[in-house]
Amino acid sequence: MYKDKIEEIKKELQEVFKNINNLNELENIKVEYMGKNGKISLLNQMIKDIPNEEKREFGILVNELRSLFSEEYDTAKNNFEEQELNQKLASEKIDITLPGRKIKRGSLHPMTRITEEFEDIFVSMGYTVYEGPEIESDENCFQKLNLPKGHPARDAQDSFYLDGEYENYLLRSQTSTAQVRAMEECTAKGPLRIVCPGKVYRRDEDATHSHQFMQIEGLVIDENISMADLKGTLELFCKKILGEKTNVRFRPSYFPFTEPSVEVDVSCFKCNGKGCSLCKQTGWIEVLGAGMVHPNVLEMSGYDSKKYQGFAFGTGMDRFAMFKYGIPDIRTIYGNDIRFLKQFDRKDEE
Ligand code: PHE
Repeated sequence: MYKDKIEEIKKELQEVFKNINNLNELENIKVEYMGKNGKISLLNQMIKDIPNEEKREFGILVNELRSLFSEEYDTAKNNFEEQELNQKLASEKIDITLPGRKIKRGSLHPMTRITEEFEDIFVSMGYTVYEGPEIESDENCFQKLNLPKGHPARDAQDSFYLDGEYENYLLRSQTSTAQVRAMEECTAKGPLRIVCPGKVYRRDEDATHSHQFMQIEGLVIDENISMADLKGTLELFCKKILGEKTNVRFRPSYFPFTEPSVEVDVSCFKCNGKGCSLCKQTGWIEVLGAGMVHPNVLEMSGYDSKKYQGFAFGTGMDRFAMFKYGIPDIRTIYGNDIRFLKQFDRKDEE
């Protein structure tokens, strides 16, 4: 009788395992047959009705049934797990041959670019880059540069003053202010060789003048410095930044903080000096102001003008950027239009 029961369960199991669809169902089947009240577990209750001599065989058959269940169970479990893994692998597959997402990259602003060009040239000549603040005292911007209050040469640069208790401060109108700072900071009152790039402000506004623009100032102080040093330095600089073919000429000029003073012209790089609209048919373009540092300026910042001489120069970097990169209107430099700025990508130089 028990043999029939065991046989029945065996047959039933074959059907049951054929029809299982997933791990969940498999676990339910396990409970149904092997759980505490499962069909196979309950077989043990029959043992009390079985004659002693058959108990052993009954035990063997029940154990066989258990083994059979376990085998089927393990096989099914493995199959389902493998299936699940394969599905997961298929759904999470990554196509590593797809092109990557492009990284959006900005480009250097033309003024950053030109500033770096200037700095590179002067650093290669042994200069250090020195920066001063954009809000400056009247003293540093004018008085210590030999422009006392009421000096007529202030007119061109008398621009943006602060209010109230800061009325003696203004947005600096020239980077020459940094000269004063560097000389005052130099406690040894000895040699200096610096370039000072930075923003300056004046009340100008047209296609070639902006109320904000960028200058770079140069200052060299040492013993036995002469006009020849100034000339040699600026000639070399102009050739380096505008090309070897550039001719340079010096014209006498006036600045309150230099004596003698010069204005520096370069041969027009568009027409090579023949005359065109850029150079207003003259063949020359004015690019720098310069001169020998006025003894008053040296003395006011604590230098012994008998022992030390110096030369200084200053120029607008915007103009160089306009020449070099072909920018017709200075205002576009400060307009923050991304279409304009994108044109200065350095792709070509990488
Ligand atoms: N600071 C002068 C200007 O802005 C330029 C300059 C600098 C001239 C140094 C001579 C020496 O016009």
